[in-house]
Amino acid sequence: MKFSTLGLAFAIGATAAASLPAINITGNAFFNSETGERFYIRGVDYQPGGSSNLTDPLGDSTICGRDIPYFEELGLNTIRVYSVDNTLDHSECMQMLDDAGIYLILDLNTPDASISRYDPGCSYNAVYLNEVFSTVDEFSNYTNILGFFAANELVNNNASLDTAPYIKAVVRDTKKYIKARGYRQIPVGYSAADVSSLRKELADYLNCGNDTDAKIDMLGVNDYSWCGQSSFTTSGYSEKVEMYTGFSVPIFLSEYGCNQVPGSRPFTEVKSIYSTQMSPVFSGGLVYQYTEDSSKYGLVEIEGDSVETLTDFENLKDELNLTSDPIGDGDYSATGEESACPTDWAFSINIPTAPDGLSKLLKNGATGGNGFDAETQNSCGDDAYYVSSTITANSSSMEHTSSSTASSAHSTSTKSSSSSSKGIADQLEAHGMTALLALIAIRKIYIK
Ligand SMILES: *[C@@H]1O[C@H](CO)[C@@H](O)[C@H](O)[C@H]1NC(C)=O
Ligand SMILES: *[C@@H]1O[C@H](CO)[C@@H](O)[C@H](O)[C@H]1NC(C)=O
Ligand SMILES: *[C@@H]1O[C@H](CO)[C@@H](O)[C@H](O)[C@H]1NC(C)=O
Ligand SMILES: *[C@@H]1O[C@H](CO)[C@@H](O)[C@H](O)[C@H]1NC(C)=O
Ligand SMILES: *[C@@H]1O[C@H](CO)[C@@H](O)[C@H](O)[C@H]1NC(C)=O
Ligand SMILES: *[C@@H]1O[C@H](CO)[C@@H](O)[C@H](O)[C@H]1NC(C)=O
Ligand SMILES: *[C@@H]1O[C@H](CO)[C@@H](O)[C@H](O)[C@H]1NC(C)=O
Repeated sequence: MKFSTLGLAFAIGATAAASLPAINITGNAFFNSETGERFYIRGVDYQPGGSSNLTDPLGDSTICGRDIPYFEELGLNTIRVYSVDNTLDHSECMQMLDDAGIYLILDLNTPDASISRYDPGCSYNAVYLNEVFSTVDEFSNYTNILGFFAANELVNNNASLDTAPYIKAVVRDTKKYIKARGYRQIPVGYSAADVSSLRKELADYLNCGNDTDAKIDMLGVNDYSWCGQSSFTTSGYSEKVEMYTGFSVPIFLSEYGCNQVPGSRPFTEVKSIYSTQMSPVFSGGLVYQYTEDSSKYGLVEIEGDSVETLTDFENLKDELNLTSDPIGDGDYSATGEESACPTDWAFSINIPTAPDGLSKLLKNGATGGNGFDAETQNSCGDDAYYVSSTITANSSSMEHTSSSTASSAHSTSTKSSSSSSKGIADQLEAHGMTALLALIAIRKIYIK
């Protein structure tokens, strides 16, 4: 008797808190864990305020509540948010997203709590991990959290390639934390800048080696190669499908929507992204970006509480509506093998050992984060968690001794921005969090 009463109570509770089924990964694709159907990301990147007025849109239901109806109008099933404030309560917005059938891909970093390109060894410390894990704690219980990004565009040119081992370190530590806390096995991945010379090599590195925890569960690629009325072959999508064939984890476009076109963006790539030409390798994508700002990538103009849809919004909506997902399983692959590690890198590809504080965090849990006030990049110098860079450089230009003098930092950053491999890379730098990070890094050094 008691058993059936409990059963009833559980059933009622479950109905009241109806939630989206978790998305699971099999092979190189996402699947709805209840229906077993393949899941293609139909998304937008969402950070109203951008880096200049950093705001957590999921910590305030007047913000997410204003925008979710527009996500629904576009027919979206996913949004990506680049930075949240881990001191806020996200339950209202997460429930509203859930009610709208929308999943979240969340980047775990904030501008001042992230790995620094200029001194990765110092910025990879336990105070930083405490921030990352506090964000994981805040979001792991929601079934509509699709995945976490451990980093976004940390490697953005040849010169920053030697930060790649730190991506794997943060992926590893985050996956260990998720396991240690008994959370659902939420995918942890990386969102890559489109650097043609490193594209495949970096992807392979992130998916290689005998440390399973350190391998990405999914790969987002920021790709602006389809401009205007392009095509599967002209845009270079075809080459990428070929190049990534056999890659063993899901890949999707974590940013797309080239705006190097006169007038509005036609979003003709949508038909290609959700076609059987792409579906064996790619699982949809997210348009950069929801909110219009000076970089002119927006779908809507926001003024206080009011949202005005732009022509880009209408075009995207039409294209998404005219484009169904491929039927069946889209010819995904369950048999891909992990990649081979590169052997030609001029620095150690070994993954840095975790800071001393990690084991305590795994055992006791994170202590709660500091939101956008967190400043962890220089925490190696003044706390107990100092961990020196484990990269042993073989060329002096790649040295990672913490010589944060103004001149060396400045020359590094100048080199970084001038050696971008593509015009678009400058633009990505200019509109992404990346630029903010660079500015902060420079500012800090001058202040010292
Ligand atoms: C910054 O964002 C907040 C929250 O959306 C908004 O209230 C405020 O007006 C914005 N400030 C500026 C200068 O745009
Ligand atoms: C997680 O979700 C379950 C079921 O909805 C709930 O009972 C539990 O309190 C939640 N835990 C946290 C830490 O929010
Ligand atoms: C989905 O993954 C969760 C763990 O992350 C697991 O409990 C569940 O059985 C999986 N569902 C399917 C259908 O594979
Ligand atoms: C895993 O790979 C690392 C680096 O290549 C190597 O040092 C280590 O011996 C390997 N461990 C095992 C168990 O194969
Ligand atoms: C297109 O819109 C119609 C009407 O709202 C809807 O029924 C249909 O499911 C949409 N198709 C897609 C692919 O979103
Ligand atoms: C540095 O170069 C030496 C000699 O070429 C090589 O034996 C060593 O493995 C290299 N170290 C790293 C960390 O790549
Ligand atoms: C980056 O490195 C690759 C090969 O290592 C090289 O072909 C390419 O020219 C380099 N690009 C820049 C901008 O230095």
